[in-house]
Amino acid sequence: MSSDRTRDLERWVPRLIAVWRRARRRPGGPDDRLTPPELREVAAGVRRLSLGLTRERELAGARYMDDPALLGAYLLFYWPVSYAQAREALGELRRPRSVLDLGSGPGPLAFAALDAGAAEATCADRSKAALALARELATEAEEALAIREWDPQRTAALPDGTYDVVTLGHVLNELFPGAEGIERRAALCERALGQVKPGGSLLMLEPALRDTSRDLLAVRDRLVEHGFSVRAPCLFRGPCPALTKPGDWCHAERLWRMPRLVEDLARAASLHKEALKMSYLAVAPKGDPVPALPLGRLFRIVSEPLEGKGRARYVGCGPEGRGGLALQEKHRSDANAAFFSLRRGDVIRIGETEERGDGQALTERSEVTVIAPAGVAVPKLEQ
Ligand SMILES: C[S@@+](CC[C@H](N)C(=O)[O-])C[C@H]1O[C@@H](n2cnc3c(N)ncnc32)[C@H](O)[C@@H]1O
Repeated sequence: MSSDRTRDLERWVPRLIAVWRRARRRPGGPDDRLTPPELREVAAGVRRLSLGLTRERELAGARYMDDPALLGAYLLFYWPVSYAQAREALGELRRPRSVLDLGSGPGPLAFAALDAGAAEATCADRSKAALALARELATEAEEALAIREWDPQRTAALPDGTYDVVTLGHVLNELFPGAEGIERRAALCERALGQVKPGGSLLMLEPALRDTSRDLLAVRDRLVEHGFSVRAPCLFRGPCPALTKPGDWCHAERLWRMPRLVEDLARAASLHKEALKMSYLAVAPKGDPVPALPLGRLFRIVSEPLEGKGRARYVGCGPEGRGGLALQEKHRSDANAAFFSLRRGDVIRIGETEERGDGQALTERSEVTVIAPAGVAVPKLEQ
């Protein structure tokens, strides 16, 4: 994460703590960190949330935001993570003016959009308690924020208006469980896309778990089938090639400097939280022309560096599909040296390759250029 984004996030820490202390009627304490008893209390909530939202998943779709201890844990631990993820994903999109944050909880995505330059944000959720915290945070940060109650499982209507960006942060996986889940989530996305202005996006974030990521890709495929285009991260325009094998999936990972508050809570709750991991998808409204890609053979790196004796290997996904990319150390040259230090999310252009088994082998003549490092928009077609 860039130093600007890191600094913006650091500025939220005292606000989050102040709002939490007021909501929990706690006496004051240090601005930028929790006292040891506070840390123990919040870490217990973080642990319950972590088990319930990622491991056992029994909290997904439950009203955990209405339990003050869990809402507090969400605010102090997951809020900064969602904020950082949203800043990364928004960095690939045109700067929005107006944002609607659906399933906002206490608003990390709405505030990320405001910090990224948006002038107006609306938070919508079914949890009054979470919306109340979003309002408190807005007061604390002296930001204007509109609030709407919204529950797509009760009514199809979305909050009125049109927006440059509509977000769904870690909420799709909590909606419409059961057999028709993917269709109903896709239908919600289509309705939301109907309220996105030309040039704008529907931005979805989901946890970087296999099942929630595959479900997001399945929603993607429904939208693509219905004529929508993906702005990011996919370079492949057709049905997602990761869905053809049951074990495959796709997620993003970014380096970040986590705030000390998050680090302290992760340690106290015995959780590992090093890299920022998420699945994300930005979709353009119907009829919006999606700019042509730069010329050449492009791939996004969609894996970490894979083990391989004497060679660098990754999974790449680009306009020609998804598959392995490998280069033997003995074929290293000035032209291909960049291949040895790629990160998940980087978009590269490669020259000639040789077909091998499940993918492509690069040679000493294969030129490799990083045309967009992870988190940066792919440039438009070069003239
Ligand atoms: C994991 S939290 C995500 C909060 C925030 N968007 C983020 O990314 O950190 C999921 C949110 O979805 C909301 N949610 C779950 N089911 C909902 C429903 N049926 N209607 C409206 N909101 C719902 C919850 O209240 C909660 O705020």
